[in-house]
Amino acid sequence: MKPVTFTIQPGGALSGTIRVPGDKSISHRAVMLGALAEGTTTVGGFLDGEDCRRTLQAFRAMGVHIERRDDVSLEVHGVGLGGLRAPARELDLGNSGTSMRLMAGLMSGQKFPTTLVGDASLSRRPMQRIIEPLTRMGASIDAEDGHAPLRIRPAAALTGIRYRSPVASAQVKSGVLLAGLYASGRTEVTEPEPSRDHTERMLRAFGVALDAEPGRAALAGGQRLAGTGIEVPADISSAAFFMVGAAIAPGSDVTLAGVGINPTRTGILEILRRMGADVEVARERALGAEPVADIRVRGRALHGIVIDGALVASAIDEFPAVFVAAACAQGVTEVSGAGELRVKESDRIQSMCEGLAALGISAQPQADGARISGGRLRGGRVDSRGDHRVAMALAMAGLRAERPVTILDCANVDTSFPGFVALAARAGLAIAAADNASREPA
Ligand code: S3P
Repeated sequence: MKPVTFTIQPGGALSGTIRVPGDKSISHRAVMLGALAEGTTTVGGFLDGEDCRRTLQAFRAMGVHIERRDDVSLEVHGVGLGGLRAPARELDLGNSGTSMRLMAGLMSGQKFPTTLVGDASLSRRPMQRIIEPLTRMGASIDAEDGHAPLRIRPAAALTGIRYRSPVASAQVKSGVLLAGLYASGRTEVTEPEPSRDHTERMLRAFGVALDAEPGRAALAGGQRLAGTGIEVPADISSAAFFMVGAAIAPGSDVTLAGVGINPTRTGILEILRRMGADVEVARERALGAEPVADIRVRGRALHGIVIDGALVASAIDEFPAVFVAAACAQGVTEVSGAGELRVKESDRIQSMCEGLAALGISAQPQADGARISGGRLRGGRVDSRGDHRVAMALAMAGLRAERPVTILDCANVDTSFPGFVALAARAGLAIAAADNASREPA
């Protein structure tokens, strides 16, 4: 991958109506469940980012015919639960933790072996959390000290389990439920805090009977999926950068259109409101199994708050952006109960505290959070550590900086937000990318 550097000229405000790309979590699941279904599944609003392309390519490598109508529309010709074919080589899932953990479950139920590999970041991320419950179900997975590559051999049989997950992780829950489709009996997952429930909602849309409530989901094995139509909402995790950008920059007025507001994902709205932001949610409606709305944010002075474990799961991917809001707020913001941030695409506690410190902010990392004192953002040179969300969050900090902000190692922004630079520039961020990477259609 070619290096990409962002440069942001200081100041400005965000305005206009913006539609960010499709939800990453839902796009992955639409391809996976569409592939396992009988009949055709149409997908609209698909996220054409690197991570979801990896999922799409993996299923093509297992014999699933997937047509692209345009960048955001797919037709997935499902092969049924037993119809996947052995891939010719290992499946390279790039930077995508969702692909790897969900597919670990899915591949455990197949009659052929597979090897799941990823890039340097994904190969550092913990996989024992998914290997452990799958092994209890009878799966056979070899890893290197709990890390990818994952070598998955066909299991004699999978048996449903009742799994009490020690982490609130939708990836773990979903991996176990997907294995549960191939298991005898009932598979149940409970978690310490409710994680995003897109898998449960979408399984139902495909006709699977599921017994679920916040923090618990159970299904019986052997149920068949029937092809359906999925419309993917705009990703609240991508919208969050613009919400924070608008909230911190005086004079901003931004409307994010058609954003998914699944209650397991809306922690960012609550956090921004508690910081004093002007956030309006309008035109709430359903898009298939998911609620969506238009979200308007106007610039207004923010103040520091205390964020503890209760809000963490529902805003887990938004903390890089929240840290930037905290840097621009009056007073101190304390985040705790967010140790999961250390095992994302980078150690986000460290990456963000170092990034903000390089820009002149006092940001102290703590074991499971951080203490950030709002102050003057001077500007300077920061390293995103190859983490898409760190890069985009720090880019928004440019709105309040006194001097230019240069962000290194931004190529992975394409994993979740293709077109970020153009969209942000159109909204009013003075951003330019030194980017010579070319993208071919998958
Ligand atoms: C995701 C779940 C979350 C989130 C990730 C996407 C998903 O991870 O951070 O970006 O699609 O299930 P965890 O489940 O590990 O918290």
